[in-house]
Amino acid sequence: MKTDCNLPLYLEDCRQRVESALDQYLPQSQYSPQCLHEAMRYAVLGEGKRIRPMLVYAAGEALGTKDKQLDIPACAVELIHAYSLAHDDLPAMDDDALRRGRPTCHTAFDEATAILAGDALQTLAFHLLAHAPNMQLDAAVRLQMIDELASASGSRGMAGGQALDIDATGREIDLAQLENMHIHKTGALIKASVRLGMLCAKNVDASYFHHLDHYAKCIGLAFQVCDDILDVTGDPNVIGKTQGKDAMANKPTYPALLGLDGARDMAHQLLEDALDNLQSFSQSAEPLRALAYYIVEREY
Ligand code: IPE
Ligand code: IPE
Ligand code: MG
Ligand code: MG
Ligand code: MG
Repeated sequence: MKTDCNLPLYLEDCRQRVESALDQYLPQSQYSPQCLHEAMRYAVLGEGKRIRPMLVYAAGEALGTKDKQLDIPACAVELIHAYSLAHDDLPAMDDDALRRGRPTCHTAFDEATAILAGDALQTLAFHLLAHAPNMQLDAAVRLQMIDELASASGSRGMAGGQALDIDATGREIDLAQLENMHIHKTGALIKASVRLGMLCAKNVDASYFHHLDHYAKCIGLAFQVCDDILDVTGDPNVIGKTQGKDAMANKPTYPALLGLDGARDMAHQLLEDALDNLQSFSQSAEPLRALAYYIVEREY
């Protein structure tokens, strides 16, 4: 997929590409157990922004990788993300009724089905990377991808960050603890998205990897800072989630700790830091630059 870095166009291309692959690889709902398959498709195929798949494609593009090799890692990271959302919304966690502008998975189905759908989406992600249908990548690279995604999703990554979030709910934590929580619950999967794109590239100087890693760390944290801001300021019809839930649940967030202006400043500092790390890249990193702006300036 080539881009002139008209971001809406780029976004649309990525969305179509990953959504058609997801549609293809998710089990069809006419097959048993139908309810579980329906819930899996429901959790994945709604109106998601697909930022993580876009990062996989954009990182690959920055390093000259073919899109075809990126479809499976792009699907894998979105499947993990969709699983994390289905579980995040459960009554035992954030107890949310609205996601992507419609009832959350456990509201549309039931709690047990939402838990199982999340479980099955997670294993499907690794199954796809292991099998790699239509992906011309050797087994060693696929193994590295599986390792990367497993670490980013597990107790030292997203799931660990979610545990910190639950533990911190209703309690005061300091800025360093908040940053640590956000870097894990959201940053880890965003960093993994960029890494999966990087892993497809061949013969790349290590300094490029280092810069992309730092870029990913900055935008990963910025993403959650902006998610916290949107929970306060977002238009419920636009964000597709119930607004004001963080304050209601007494969650530690950047606006709660720094105020809205402080949180916005922080997001912009992270954006600048992310862009600085792309200075040695040519035009091919334009999608990554555009995505960094999008992450900080988005309205949903
Ligand atoms: C929401 O992620 C959950 C967080 C990690 C903050 P997104 O804002 O990317 O959600 P979708 O995929 O677009 O619905
Ligand atoms: C969710 O953070 C992080 C993960 C799903 C891992 P939030 O709880 O803030 O996400 P939203 O606001 O419900 O989308
Ligand atoms: Mg949460
Ligand atoms: Mg939540
Ligand atoms: Mg949130």
